[in-house]
Amino acid sequence: MIECKNITKTYESGDSQTSAVKNASFTIRDGEFVAITGPSGSGKSTLMHILGCLDKPTSGAYFLDGKDVAGLSDDELAEIRTQKIGFVFQAFNLLPRATVLRNVELPLVYAGAPAPARAERARDALRRSAFPEKFFNHRSNELSGGMMQRVAIARALVNEPSLILADEPTGNLDTKTGEAVLATLERLHSEHGRTVVLITHEPYVAEHAERIIHIRDGQIV
Ligand SMILES: Nc1ncnc2c1ncn2[C@@H]1O[C@H](COP(=O)(O)OP(=O)(O)OP(=O)(O)O)[C@@H](O)[C@H]1O
Ligand SMILES: [Mg+2]
Repeated sequence: MIECKNITKTYESGDSQTSAVKNASFTIRDGEFVAITGPSGSGKSTLMHILGCLDKPTSGAYFLDGKDVAGLSDDELAEIRTQKIGFVFQAFNLLPRATVLRNVELPLVYAGAPAPARAERARDALRRSAFPEKFFNHRSNELSGGMMQRVAIARALVNEPSLILADEPTGNLDTKTGEAVLATLERLHSEHGRTVVLITHEPYVAEHAERIIHIRDGQIV
């Protein structure tokens, strides 16, 4: 599903340059559950932005489902994100005043799904994320961190994406809630056959994956 060949990402600000990812090459197969782990500043989020087609590498090639991402326009990249990729961000990135259901429906709105189907699919995704039914119509800013993260996971999977990218999904959660969120990601992989890429700086979180890719100072080690 994912093939990276000599990916480098260099940020330029003023006169200074930071190579956040250096010459990274790796593959991730369809249906795999992989963790990318490394210390703070090692380039994990930079890599996730590239894998998620939110950013392009400075050099090197990224093939997603056999397609070279470098040649695609911004619109084509947005289309790929909508069709194939579900994102879970550390900071949740929910719309605070919108209801839980509305937050989860949003990717379906972008994908052009008809309204009646949207609500049903959003409910289904929330149930699969073990989100309690009685809070479906609450605003997202009324929820605890663990519940917000489950909404974020439901939103990531409502489009049935083949690839789920989760950047520190347990970073803001207590251990028990974090374990529940990890169990949801594991289930998406084992029961639903999704490809899951879990980004974390915590070794015990990375242990949940089938395979661990270590990154240090922007290099795969
Ligand atoms: N937009 C940017 N402009 C300039 N430098 C950046 C930018 N984003 C990241 N960097 C730098 O690139 C390097 C890698 O950052 P990145 O956010 O990918 O690390 P990370 O592994 O996700 O860290 P953390 O665990 O703290 O989230 C760091 O040195 C960071 O300062
Ligand atoms: Mg990061």
